[in-house]
Amino acid sequence: MAEHQGGAFPRIRMRRNRRDDWSRRLMREARVTVDDLIWPVFVKETDVAEEEIASMPGVFRYSISRLVEAAGEAAALGIPALAIFPVIDPSLKTPGGDEAANPNNLICRAVKAVKKAHPDLGIICDVALDPFTSHGQDGILRDGYVVNDESVEMLVKQSLVQAAAGCDVIAPSDMMDGRVGAIRDALDSHGHEAVRILSYAAKYASAYYGPFRDAVGSATNLGGGDKRTYQMDPANGDEALREVALDLQEGADMVMVKPGLPYLDIVHRVKTEFRVPTYVYQVSGEYAMLRGAGDRGWLDWERVIMESLLCFKRAGADGILTYAAVEVARMLKDSGA
Ligand code: PBG
Repeated sequence: MAEHQGGAFPRIRMRRNRRDDWSRRLMREARVTVDDLIWPVFVKETDVAEEEIASMPGVFRYSISRLVEAAGEAAALGIPALAIFPVIDPSLKTPGGDEAANPNNLICRAVKAVKKAHPDLGIICDVALDPFTSHGQDGILRDGYVVNDESVEMLVKQSLVQAAAGCDVIAPSDMMDGRVGAIRDALDSHGHEAVRILSYAAKYASAYYGPFRDAVGSATNLGGGDKRTYQMDPANGDEALREVALDLQEGADMVMVKPGLPYLDIVHRVKTEFRVPTYVYQVSGEYAMLRGAGDRGWLDWERVIMESLLCFKRAGADGILTYAAVEVARMLKDSGA
């Protein structure tokens, strides 16, 4: 910065470049486009087309046929991909989460229906047992502890049925050790070498997932339980880099940081360190906060949601999972962006 010595105020005026819209546009470093958006959606076995989630205003549990329609709207707006989450009927939940490996389960049927109607829309499926277990944990419980290797075996089976149903991206969200490598090997040996893996590499044991657990109904199953023996401690940053390194070594094509805004430092560190496709999940609790304040008139919803997404881009994210994807895509379209 030596060349700037003696060039401080009043010669340098940072406000010059901010003065007009045209120069602000020219200076702009980060940008949100529809290509950055992944839309998480919930699907339920029901005749009711849609059911709003109380703690997530504007977000719905869709029937399969309504989901197909909604997916079409998203595709027409240019949203590249959907992440589909199943709301499993309580009668199908078991301690082992066996329904997860049923090739004809709700998520597989939803994937098939959406793929058939919209073959060019990317479909991402979570791999974790929590929607399917009677205890609401992401893996198999033995003496109150979520066991690793046995859970991974089940996650592999879950991945295979989802891939066979036509899912493009398998997204392990369970934080079991060795899951990415095990899933990669299984996909490859079953002719699914084109199926990508987006690992929730740095997933924290966060209280921001509350509304999601209401949405899929796992909160009741989980009771007072938490996921701290497998999800990461919110205090740790270096550990996230180690998790990402391991998942990449095991064959992850893309990695994710979750939650989003409170973990922006992690997004930045991951992108800076590894230079790989890095995604961020603006989780249910983040959505609920902004949306709730917006609905009460305490915040300008449209502006805060756009600002939050821009901040993810500035931090280095290549894409964002957000429940507001469709609304944001509409806003971008209306603004001619
Ligand atoms: C399941 C899963 C969760 C989320 C995505 N996949 C919940 C959890 O880990 O308890 C959270 C998403 C959100 O809060 O929006 N493993």
